[in-house]
Amino acid sequence: MQILDGKLVSAAVKAQLADKVTELKALGEKVPHLAAILVGNNPASETYVASKVKSCAEIGFHSTLLRFDAKISEKHLLDNITLLNENADIDGILVQLPLPKHINEELVINTIDPSKDVDGFHPMNVGKMVAGLPTYIPATPYGIMLMLEHYNIPTKGKHAVVIGRSHIVGTPMSILLSRNANPGNCTVTLTHSQTANLKEICLQADIIVAAIGRPNFVTADMVKEGAVVIDVGINRIEDASKKSGFRLVGDVDYNAVAPKTSFITPVPGGVGPMTIAALLKNTYHASLGQKVNMN
Ligand code: GUN
Repeated sequence: MQILDGKLVSAAVKAQLADKVTELKALGEKVPHLAAILVGNNPASETYVASKVKSCAEIGFHSTLLRFDAKISEKHLLDNITLLNENADIDGILVQLPLPKHINEELVINTIDPSKDVDGFHPMNVGKMVAGLPTYIPATPYGIMLMLEHYNIPTKGKHAVVIGRSHIVGTPMSILLSRNANPGNCTVTLTHSQTANLKEICLQADIIVAAIGRPNFVTADMVKEGAVVIDVGINRIEDASKKSGFRLVGDVDYNAVAPKTSFITPVPGGVGPMTIAALLKNTYHASLGQKVNMN
């Protein structure tokens, strides 16, 4: 069993991007600039956004964090996105999800200029991804593809089972893994909370991507000997022994599952850092007016 070290791969991607920033500066060119919007104070969202902003600083990107109270009106939020769309210095815009219930998430995403949508959530970018055209690939699936590529994990002809059908992870992941590309070329089964015989389906998987958001959901009896297991879950569970009062666990019962696998991502330190690396890559491409071609 080998651990897929997201911290290590993410550090390599960040080092490459830091070199690009040095080159841009030497040429007197503009440095990539990411704008992040955080509404309210959801603790997980606070952590993710802080990590994104910190990572920008580490590699020399500019970042702007706009924070709004959870009671912000939808109009005020949309007006701020429009200002960022019109600001030529801003290359990438992300609105951290989830948003408070009174705000229409779809409207918010549709308001982001697709050329600055470094999360790849705008329907125009989703459409391009499905059509196999260059676009921004959502950061978590993109980060997982970068990780599979880094470790040269064979995917051609393999059976990948994706658990979870969210727009952010499961659905784009299923599309990317099924592409005629490398990584890609898998036979993909997209499963979810209503899937019958999930255990039997998972037992046929050469690659499992768990993105269902339930702690320790994937147990050892669901995993074939030698499978590759990618754990997207970042679940907070109470732990009185921790100063914070909680600890992070994935969607995979790591201790029981790991010995059966050929490769597995830990939580934390697996997919999480790769999501950030992929977002930074998208932001770099946005600053050059390029999109990622995954074909
Ligand atoms: N919430 C959970 N994951 C993400 C993500 O990748 N981007 C944004 N904007 N919000 C999220």
